[in-house]
Amino acid sequence: TPTRYEAESSPATCDGSIDSNHSGYSGSGFCNTDNTTGAAAQFTVNAAASGTATLEIRYANGGSSGRPAAVTVNGSSAQSLSFSTTGAWNNWATATLTVPVNSGSNTIRLAATGSDGLPNIDYLDVTTSDGGGTTTG
Ligand code: GCU
Ligand code: CA
Repeated sequence: TPTRYEAESSPATCDGSIDSNHSGYSGSGFCNTDNTTGAAAQFTVNAAASGTATLEIRYANGGSSGRPAAVTVNGSSAQSLSFSTTGAWNNWATATLTVPVNSGSNTIRLAATGSDGLPNIDYLDVTTSDGGGTTTG
């Protein structure tokens, strides 16, 4: 089962406002970033072991075009993607990607690469492969 990190819950940060005016979100709200290039939502994610993590990003994009973003993990570029339109701000969808993580705390940052900013971000669900562990040494 994934661990859920709500966009409105510290230590997550949102370059914009935490809003609750579009229904269907989890928790107490969602991150509405400023509509500007570079606007970001950032999460602090724990992993039991280094390896890969599956990220499920719940978002709504009621705009008429996709919103591109760059994903960085611990400051390193991991992936770029475009959050496609969901047709309305209260229609939520999930984007899934896989990124590398370190053991312990990881900073996962979604930053808009287009001038519309990010879509509204509800949460990040993270599944890490703790792998059952190989013992070395
Ligand atoms: C509308 C909507 C916001 C959204 C914004 C946007 O203002 O109510 O929730 O963030 O559009 O285009 O990003
Ligand atoms: Ca916005």
